[in-house]
Amino acid sequence: MNFSDSEIVASILIDNNYELAEKFSDADLLLINTCSIRDNAEKRVRNRLKEFVSLKIKKPEMVIGIIGCMAERLKEKLFEEEKAVDLIIGPDAYRDLPKLLTKIESGQKAANIILSEEETYADIKPVRYGSNGVSAFISIMRGCENFCSYCVVPYTRGKERSRNIDSIIDEAKSLLKDGYSEITLLGQNVNSYRWKKDGREFNFTELIENVALINPLLRVRFTTSHPKDISDELIETIAKHKNICNSIHLPVQSGSNSVLKRMNRKYTREWYLNRIEKIKELTPDCGLTTDIISGFCGETEFEHNETISIMKKVGYDFAFMFKYSERPNTAAEKKFKDDVTEEIKKRRLKEIIELQQELSHKSNLRDIGKTFEVLVEGVSKRSTEDLSGRNSQNKVVVFPKRNFKKGDYVNVEIIDCTSATLIGVSL
Ligand code: 5AD
Ligand code: SF4
Repeated sequence: MNFSDSEIVASILIDNNYELAEKFSDADLLLINTCSIRDNAEKRVRNRLKEFVSLKIKKPEMVIGIIGCMAERLKEKLFEEEKAVDLIIGPDAYRDLPKLLTKIESGQKAANIILSEEETYADIKPVRYGSNGVSAFISIMRGCENFCSYCVVPYTRGKERSRNIDSIIDEAKSLLKDGYSEITLLGQNVNSYRWKKDGREFNFTELIENVALINPLLRVRFTTSHPKDISDELIETIAKHKNICNSIHLPVQSGSNSVLKRMNRKYTREWYLNRIEKIKELTPDCGLTTDIISGFCGETEFEHNETISIMKKVGYDFAFMFKYSERPNTAAEKKFKDDVTEEIKKRRLKEIIELQQELSHKSNLRDIGKTFEVLVEGVSKRSTEDLSGRNSQNKVVVFPKRNFKKGDYVNVEIIDCTSATLIGVSL
C-alpha cells in the first residue's frame, strides 16, 4: 500500500518539476512515507529521521517531510517531537504537496492531515520507480472500515472508498503496453470493492474478471481479502481464468474463536475453514498465505494452541507473523489489557514461526517433480547464471538462465527446494 502511495507522490512531484534524486544527500526534499501498524514501524521511522537530521545539518535548506499513516496519527504533534520535520501530510492530501512546499519556501512549516471520503488518486499515473519492469501494483480502493480492534488503519487511512473501474482498467492496459506482465490489485479489503457505472454496480469479482479479460498474457493477482467477505463467486472466477493467479492471501490473525471475537474479525474459525475448503475444492493447487498476530490481549495458552492447530489444518505456504503491538486509541487499547508478557509473546511467536517454516518446507517438497509456468522477474540474487521468477502460486522459482530473459514465461520443472525457494530447470 505504502509503496503504491510513494509512486503517486513521485508522480505529483515530477509534474511539478521535481526529479528523483540518486542519493539522499543529493536531495533538496526528503519524504518519509510512514506506516503506523506496529510500534516498531514507527520506531524505525524515528531512527531514519536521526540519519536525515545529520544530512540537514550539512545542508540546512533541505526540506524533510513525514507523509502517510504516522503523519495522520500524530498530526502537528510531530513538529514538536521531531524538530527537523518541516512538512506533515496525511494519505489523502498528497495533491496538496506543491502548495505546501511553496509555503515552506517562505520559511513556514506546513501540514495537511485532512482525510477525504472520495480521494482515490484515480487520475494520477504512478511513477513506477524502483520497479522490476515486470510486475506492478494497481491501487483499487483506499481506507478501511472494518475496525479490527487491534488495528490503526481505519483511523489513519480513513473511510473505505473504491476507485473508478474505468481508470483501473486503463491503468492495467497502459502497464501492459509498457511491457508489464503481472499486476496486483491492491486494497485493504478488496472484496468490498464497489463501483456504480451506467446504472449498475460492479463488485470485485466483476472487476478482476474485466482486468483478466484484457489479455491472457497479463497475470492478475490481488491482495488483501478479508475472510468474512471472500465469496464463492470470486473463487469460481479464479478457477475459471488461467491468468488470475492461484494464490490467495487470507489473513487469519488467530485460530481461536474467542480471540477472533475480541479482535472484532467478524468470522469464526469454522467460517474461515469453510472458506479454505471451498478454495481447495475449486482450485486445488491454490497457494495460501496468511497474517498471524501472536499474544493478543488476554490470549491464553489454549487460544494460542488453536492458532497452531489452524495453521496445521490449512497448511499455509507462507505467513507474515507478528507480535501484538498495542496501538493508541484503537478499540483494543481502550477495552482490553495488553496483558500477555513480552516473554510469552516472543515464545509463542517463535513457535508460530518455526511451525510455518516447517509447513513452507513441506509445501515446497510437495512441488518437487511438478512443472510450473514461471514469469521471469530478473537475475537470481544468489547467482548471475540463474533467473528468478514466480509461479501462479506466488512461490519464488530459481532456474538456470539459458536464453531466457526478464518478462518471459518459462515452463520450469522443480527438482529441489529450500523452505523459501523452489529450484528447477526449464523444459
Ligand atoms: N499488532 C500486530 N500486528 C498487527 N497487524 C495489524 N495491526 C497490528 C497490531 N496492532 C498485522 C495484521 C495485519 C497485518 C497487515 O499487520 O496481521 O493483517
Ligand atoms: Fe486493519 Fe482489519 Fe482493516 Fe485489515 S481489515 S486494515 S486488519 S481494520
